[in-house]
Amino acid sequence: MIPTGKKKRQFVKNKFASVTKRYDLLNGLLSCYIDHYWRWATTQELDRSRGGPILDLCAGTLPLSLEIVRQTTLEVIAVDFCYEMLHHGTSRIRGKETEYISPVCGDGENLPFPDQRFQGITVAFGVRNLSRVEQGLREMLRVLLPGGKLVILEFSRPKNPLISPIYRLYLHKILPFMAGILSGDREAYHYLAESIQGFYEPDVLAKMMEDIGFRQVRYRPMTMGIVTLYIGYR
Ligand SMILES: C[S@@+](CC[C@H](N)C(=O)[O-])C[C@H]1O[C@@H](n2cnc3c(N)ncnc32)[C@H](O)[C@@H]1O
Repeated sequence: MIPTGKKKRQFVKNKFASVTKRYDLLNGLLSCYIDHYWRWATTQELDRSRGGPILDLCAGTLPLSLEIVRQTTLEVIAVDFCYEMLHHGTSRIRGKETEYISPVCGDGENLPFPDQRFQGITVAFGVRNLSRVEQGLREMLRVLLPGGKLVILEFSRPKNPLISPIYRLYLHKILPFMAGILSGDREAYHYLAESIQGFYEPDVLAKMMEDIGFRQVRYRPMTMGIVTLYIGYR
């Protein structure tokens, strides 16, 4: 069972701290490296003509921040509340990356920024980990400039009746087993499976975004619905 509220916060922080060093390797292996394409597609959604800065929330070891810098010349503020993840990512950035990425250890549910600070926000595989998703979305809306764009990349569940049982088997049995061996923390990958299984359906999350005040909300499944990309504007 995934803990809730404050207990979830601490649990999530501890779990990411414990898998930090293997996070990127496991991400690639367990997704057959399709995660690179998912982050590429997320970055493609950013509006380059408006300039920066971009808030990359729940930035972890910075894979999406790096993709943004690879594709654009936008300044990125990378926020995560797990110091270990952020520190590990930051220790590996070089050259242009150090110029464009500013890591900030902070909480997505209580962002350390004034209102209307960012022209764009990206969140890859982070929203599901928030202990209060609505509070996180409210904070994202608050720090976005009018007309600014939010792009969320998140796991979802394939709907195809042929794919769905295979995916569930993978998620609940194969993934925790393989990840347990490779990362030494099987519980972290049980959490991953449970958190994906228990997360909102895409239409529910999109409705939540609208209710909070995002405009022109839309979403599109990718890779058979294993992930979904959500877009909304302030
Ligand atoms: C699955 S990782 C995603 C990392 C990265 N965005 C990527 O594309 O791989 C989720 C990250 O969300 C962070 N996180 C969870 N809750 C958070 C919160 N309330 N505030 C800031 N970061 C949070 C975790 O520490 C973790 O690094």
